[in-house]
Amino acid sequence: MDRDVVVNIENVTVRYHHFEAVKNISFDVKKGDVIALIGANGSGKTTLIKALLGLLRVSQGTIWKADGLQIGYLPQNTSLQDRFFPATVEEVVSIGLLAKRKFPKFLNRDDRKKILQTLDMLRIPHLLKKRIGELSGGQQQRVLLARALVSAPEILILDEPTSALDHSMRKHFFEIVKKLNEKLNITVILVTHDIVSAGDYINRVVYLDQVIKFNDTFDAFCEHPELSPFVHTHPLKHTEGVKS
Ligand SMILES: Nc1ncnc2c1ncn2[C@@H]1O[C@H](COP(=O)(O)OP(=O)(O)O)[C@@H](O)[C@H]1O
Ligand SMILES: [Mg+2]
Repeated sequence: MDRDVVVNIENVTVRYHHFEAVKNISFDVKKGDVIALIGANGSGKTTLIKALLGLLRVSQGTIWKADGLQIGYLPQNTSLQDRFFPATVEEVVSIGLLAKRKFPKFLNRDDRKKILQTLDMLRIPHLLKKRIGELSGGQQQRVLLARALVSAPEILILDEPTSALDHSMRKHFFEIVKKLNEKLNITVILVTHDIVSAGDYINRVVYLDQVIKFNDTFDAFCEHPELSPFVHTHPLKHTEGVKS
């Protein structure tokens, strides 16, 4: 296998009982890739991500990951308010470190330093002691990104991270992800309906509809006669409601 390959998905099918959510999926993720995983609601994007993370069992096929590959994950529809109220930003981000640890489950000096460094990198160090209920949607999403990043992952998986954000915050969020990729060489898998905002730095588009319908560069995607309308009339407005 190519030395740069960090994840290899081969003929993967995932079923819920008898229902095949994704069918016979094959693709590689290479170090430094920024992959946009797109497709309509219900096309199997989250299912595939969860299988990759080992949260769902693969019914057929194999998923190979590079030895010791560290993955940071920002799940879909995570409302900080509901899940972590009334935690502070520091507490929420610390979960990204402590969840992987067996014992003891408390923060040492080194952890606190890592948390602050991560918040610094995302330009929100001043939020450290804030309660998450006080934050805006854009700030909350950055805190969730910090939680995914604090353990210094090699690959970052973001499942519709900007769906609750308005256009300008969305742009801003994608700028951050771009920097993480360019400066820290973090590999990114981005599930999104907004490949227009993300377009200038994704190097591969994987278009899912139970099976893979397309897997090529962003430019090739834009030029594709049947898929290019997706770029202009992508279902963003219909599927991504603004949440409180
Ligand atoms: N836990 C589950 N049990 C049964 N069916 C599920 C479950 N999760 C998702 N599905 C179904 O699998 C299909 C793919 O869902 P999902 O992976 O969430 O799609 P997407 O993330 O692209 O919107 C949908 O038809 C969905 O209803
Ligand atoms: Mg989903």
